[in-house]
Amino acid sequence: MAGQPTTIVIFGATGDLTRRKLIPALFQLACKGRLPDPLRIVGFGRRDYSDDRFREFMGEGVQEFGQFAGRTGEWDTFSRSISYFKGDLETPDDYVRLKQTLEDSEGSGGGHRLFYLSISPRYFGSAIANLGSSGLGRDEGGWRRVVIEKPFGHDLESAQSLNRAVHNVFDEEQVYRIDHYLGKETVQNILVFRFGNRIFEPIWNREHVDNVQITAAETVSVGDRAGYYDQSGVVRDMVQNHLLQLLTMVAMEPPSTMDAESLRNHKVDVLRAIRRWTPEERALNTTLGQYRGYQDENGVAPGSDTPTYAALRLFVDNWRWQGVPFYLRTGKSMADKATEIVVQFRRPPHMMFSGAQDQENSPNMLSMSLQPDEGVHLKFGVKVPDQGMAMVSKDMSFHYDSAFKDQAIPEAYERLLQDSLEGDASLFIRSDHIEEAWRIVAPLLEDQEGPGTLRPQSYEPGSWGPAAADGLLSQLGHKWLGVGTDGDRHG
Ligand code: BG6
Repeated sequence: MAGQPTTIVIFGATGDLTRRKLIPALFQLACKGRLPDPLRIVGFGRRDYSDDRFREFMGEGVQEFGQFAGRTGEWDTFSRSISYFKGDLETPDDYVRLKQTLEDSEGSGGGHRLFYLSISPRYFGSAIANLGSSGLGRDEGGWRRVVIEKPFGHDLESAQSLNRAVHNVFDEEQVYRIDHYLGKETVQNILVFRFGNRIFEPIWNREHVDNVQITAAETVSVGDRAGYYDQSGVVRDMVQNHLLQLLTMVAMEPPSTMDAESLRNHKVDVLRAIRRWTPEERALNTTLGQYRGYQDENGVAPGSDTPTYAALRLFVDNWRWQGVPFYLRTGKSMADKATEIVVQFRRPPHMMFSGAQDQENSPNMLSMSLQPDEGVHLKFGVKVPDQGMAMVSKDMSFHYDSAFKDQAIPEAYERLLQDSLEGDASLFIRSDHIEEAWRIVAPLLEDQEGPGTLRPQSYEPGSWGPAAADGLLSQLGHKWLGVGTDGDRHG
């Protein structure tokens, strides 16, 4: 039996994200029977589209980017739930008109509303204020939720002020701040792997872990996003959000339940424990880079100092992790596209087998490949046949694609949209998390953008970043493991 109607209003409906990710993900959820019934999707945008033209435009997106492109019959049915509303984000009257339209379609029993802000961050403030003043966001006749895309703030102050603006209209429980990394299956698997198995957690600490390395390498350059990117740089674009999210999942204490508050409390605890740098430490623990040719990209300011690569060494000052370096690196125009977490374990206290040299270079190592070859690998020493007691390092591997042949890994946005419709905020960022993450990177941004000494070093496109990033690890006797090294499974 059909329940109360639900409407998703997508602000920024004619933007790239809507047709590349949101509508394909919603269509996939519809095909899997996971959407509320009845559901309406209203695209709010400035362009002069009819409903039919907008549906056609979205259909092209599903064809080009969706996992279920071939399902034309189902698309015909699904697309009837999509309509278009021409409006301007900064015009309060347009929200009042939208409210009327929604009320007309919801009928006297009211309905639930999910507002999805897929818009340029400079409009977040006005969109939220207008949702408030028009009464659209008021809890009458159904729940109201708002999904806010990244970037949430440009620095700590702007994030705090945006949080205040949001809380003027919505309670924190109604707010779903997106980090699409949390929608990835393999990122959620970090929790299952750690807390659904008995054997790893007892060694997941400073007694047994030597260092942790988190890499998110991309082959793409900034391309046509240069205008945005040059104002942001890698620290805002990848470190403040995605990389710190991954770090919290690796380092957090086991929550007692999977509910949103429990999980997010433990993640924020990790951020609070990250050691704050002095200016000298900052320089010692950071390498920034810029790929050669960046300054020629269309939209990049002449002589721009914006970094496209960052490698950082962080410490989590608590009982579990004291003294264990967490290395984070990410960059554009690198040699390979790969996101991976490597946990390097300490060496055996005494080595009595020949080939120990190899063990020296290749200690026990657990690597979680988050993309593109999703899986988990455990490296250990084994005896070489017929060579006395010589040993060598080998890999035990799990690959999602061979282990789950008939189950495609869903798009991150599927999970996130479904959760926001079901009211589960565990995979969304809470206000205190976002502010804490800004607090961690703020000094780095000040150094990089102010008169500080932190300036990006040049690296070749298609390389693994500036050589200085290797020095960051060798200072403590480490080296990069996993992608881009001898033990690389990707190339
Ligand atoms: C986005 C960044 O948040 O994440 C992009 O703005 C980056 O610059 C992208 O390319 C990476 O996402 P993924 O899912 O391809 O690792």
